[in-house]
Amino acid sequence: MSMELPDTIRAVEWSDEGLKLLDQRLLPRLEQWIVLKDALGVAQAIRDMVVRGAPAIGISAAYGVVLAARDRYAESSAHWKNAIEEDFRALAESRPTAVNLFWALDRMKARLTGIEGDPVAELLAEAKLIHDEDVAANRHMGELGAALIDGPCAVLTHCNAGALATGGIGTALGVIRAGFATGKINHVFADETRPWLQGARLTAWELVEDNIPVTLQTEGAAATLMKQGKIEWVIVGSDRIAANGDVANKIGTYSLAVLARYHGVKFMVVAPTSTVDMAIACGDDIPIEQRAEEEVLTLEGKRIAPEAAHAWNPSFDVTPADLVDAIVTEKGVVKSPDAVKMKAMMNG
Ligand code: MRU
Repeated sequence: MSMELPDTIRAVEWSDEGLKLLDQRLLPRLEQWIVLKDALGVAQAIRDMVVRGAPAIGISAAYGVVLAARDRYAESSAHWKNAIEEDFRALAESRPTAVNLFWALDRMKARLTGIEGDPVAELLAEAKLIHDEDVAANRHMGELGAALIDGPCAVLTHCNAGALATGGIGTALGVIRAGFATGKINHVFADETRPWLQGARLTAWELVEDNIPVTLQTEGAAATLMKQGKIEWVIVGSDRIAANGDVANKIGTYSLAVLARYHGVKFMVVAPTSTVDMAIACGDDIPIEQRAEEEVLTLEGKRIAPEAAHAWNPSFDVTPADLVDAIVTEKGVVKSPDAVKMKAMMNG
């Protein structure tokens, strides 16, 4: 089965000039692309959130390796494989939580090892494959996730797990696009997602572009939304899923899972297997990015808190597997996830 879904938004593109990224810091006010010509520029763009969202970070890093190989091979066709290690390090240090970054770098490294001569064409083919596989995974997950929903109903999503965060139609938003196309989802509530406002700026923009009805809310409104019986599912993406099914995602996701269980609302996590880290036994071991306190203390560059106040700004939290009703990957659906079911899905 392959359904017609809106698929017009792209945030990461390869061109002969270099890696083109839609600058997500400026959306929705400005649709501005930047072109990156070297790996350090890509690492910086990931750190600064020009590109963000776990799969999009991985895809960008893969193209970053292509740019690195182009430069290093031009510098020295004999020593480029040693020199490129520095670029791998810089890309790996850009952000810590989304495992797709390290997964993509490992894949590029594995491809690089056997190359003799000019590496650019082969590495570009691998990066494009990573990109294409994500597009296909998004579509498949969209169909699998939508099939879990009886509907018609409204759903709540958090942060942005859409086209802007991936190579294709998105993970959580892929399910929402498929659910809307099949009449199972009739309305989307989107958390604004402080402090970066990915929900207000990015998710709302994507849904409006696709004519999917969206209502924005502050995170604090979620309990009341659920208590009033307005939604049947919370649908989110993930940055890293541990071997036991614990889920790291944007800060605030864990609160939604607790609220959902209390109110009898179902909780779905949608992520490709490139987000699953079988080397990490449980969520406690997932590295959580701490970002600058200025992100919380200021709004659009203007201080909103007293000068003497401090802020705590963890970018992600971990939802325990037992609060998750379903993890949807391109390899299948894991209901009530645990270590045994996750392993079977990954091997399946
Ligand atoms: O800090 P961000 O914007 O990179 O965080 C993004 C998220 O938390 C997404 O939910 C996650 O990466 C999944 S994107 C398909």
